[in-house]
Amino acid sequence: MTKIAIEFPGVKALSGVDFQVKTGAIHALIGANGAGKSTLMKILAGAYSHYTGSITIDGQQVEIRTPSAAKQLGIEIVYQEVDTALVPYLSVAENIMLDVMVNRMGKQQFVRWNEIHRSAQQTLNRMGVKIDTRELVQNLTLAQKQMVLIARALSEQARFLVLDEPTAPLSTTETQELFRLIKDLAYNNNVGVVFISHRLPEIFEICEDVTILRDGLVVTHQPVSEVRPLQVIELMLGHRFDETYPKTKVPIGEKIFEVKNLSTYDSAVGNASMYVRAGEIVGVAGLVGAGKTELSKAIFGALPQKQGEIYLKGRKITVRTPYHAVQQGLALVPEERRKEGVLVEEPVYINLSAASLSLFSSALGFLRGAAEHASARKVISDLGIKTPSDSQKVAYLSGGNQQKVAVGKWLVTEAEVYIFDEPTKGVDVGAKHEIFELIGKLVAAGKGVIYASCELAEIIGITDRTYVMYDHTIVKELVTAETNEAEILFYSTGGK
Ligand SMILES: Nc1ncnc2c1ncn2[C@@H]1O[C@H](COP(=O)(O)OP(=O)(O)OP(=O)(O)O)[C@@H](O)[C@H]1O
Ligand SMILES: [Mg+2]
Repeated sequence: MTKIAIEFPGVKALSGVDFQVKTGAIHALIGANGAGKSTLMKILAGAYSHYTGSITIDGQQVEIRTPSAAKQLGIEIVYQEVDTALVPYLSVAENIMLDVMVNRMGKQQFVRWNEIHRSAQQTLNRMGVKIDTRELVQNLTLAQKQMVLIARALSEQARFLVLDEPTAPLSTTETQELFRLIKDLAYNNNVGVVFISHRLPEIFEICEDVTILRDGLVVTHQPVSEVRPLQVIELMLGHRFDETYPKTKVPIGEKIFEVKNLSTYDSAVGNASMYVRAGEIVGVAGLVGAGKTELSKAIFGALPQKQGEIYLKGRKITVRTPYHAVQQGLALVPEERRKEGVLVEEPVYINLSAASLSLFSSALGFLRGAAEHASARKVISDLGIKTPSDSQKVAYLSGGNQQKVAVGKWLVTEAEVYIFDEPTKGVDVGAKHEIFELIGKLVAAGKGVIYASCELAEIIGITDRTYVMYDHTIVKELVTAETNEAEILFYSTGGK
């Protein structure tokens, strides 16, 4: 790709980018949120037609302005926005074979269902993934949806495969499986793989070359073996970076929140008990699928509770719906933020006030526009949300910046207990720091924080105490200062 440039209203997303990939190799494309990674890859996949610059394959100039043109050249992409790329009410097999099916219908060919399921199953087997091909996609976890998208890309013979943050929803084991697959594609099938990730160790583990983007420009392009991790971070951010976890010491007060024997109907959560004290950051550790998301949702009334009690400041509360939860003083930053955490069709400032409209409404009941904008702008600058203005539609922000909006909208609410479900997923290292700092401010103000994450380093880095989940329930409580990653992992994998 040579001198690629593209603009959107108010945003110059790429300003003359050169990018080369070899077949038979894995190439890392990295950069802070909003740097232009997805845009560059969308151009390669034919999602945009209004860019300038040229694309060459094997020395031959090619014209890529539509998705089908890209496919014909053997370019497959797994988009970052997992849920928008899938059809929720269709089966796993139909989603995997979607392109093949559409192609055949175009040619008026018959769709043979058995064959569709068999091919889909073959692809999943090849990936070592166990998902029923007849299951509806809407019933899958985020990690499973990601696997379905990858399977779809693999169902075609690709020469170039772009994976835009494929590991964000995956656990360590699933990530290792995916890496095995990617290496097999690159080294045994001569596919050129472009790999985008905010988890830098992954870059150092599987990539040969790295291209770093910053603000729509390439800042470096070199073999991975020639750069050090900290150097990569600083090139990405464009400034010096302190790699430690910012953790301010705050006094821990009384117990303000307690969950007793909470269970949900479909046993996604079984008999979980936990408490949080004022000023305390309580971790919920566990592998993907252990039930962290379900526990967060059940506490917040987003999953029906079968039994259990919830106490806030010593008072028993009933949380049947998220509406009740917000009324009582709970806040949740959900894991599937694009789907559950933001209103993508609304501007940034509306999103940053949706959870706290009462704060902005005057006695007369109309919105106090100026206050709303002022508060939105503060969150935008606190979290470094990259947007041309607070009136930009959230759908137009980069993936990581959408996440920041989902986190940010709760920071303007006055809740007592904040639940964060994997809040750093998909955000760059700089923004991660800012999120930790903001969580620090919440606890300094005497709030309680529940922090669910499968990143053990984060659990160790910022929590005071941690609960470990295994098989849909809490199996262990640990004081963070007295534990380590190995011990948490031991309990996360069912150790007793
Ligand atoms: N359709 C669009 N309309 C308007 N602006 C857009 C559009 N797509 C991307 N942008 C803007 O272009 C810039 C680059 O976005 P892009 O999605 O490529 O970033 P990214 O590097 O993939 O970031 P992330 O790590 O957050 O996924 C951002 O400022 C984004 O807001
Ligand atoms: Mg992106």
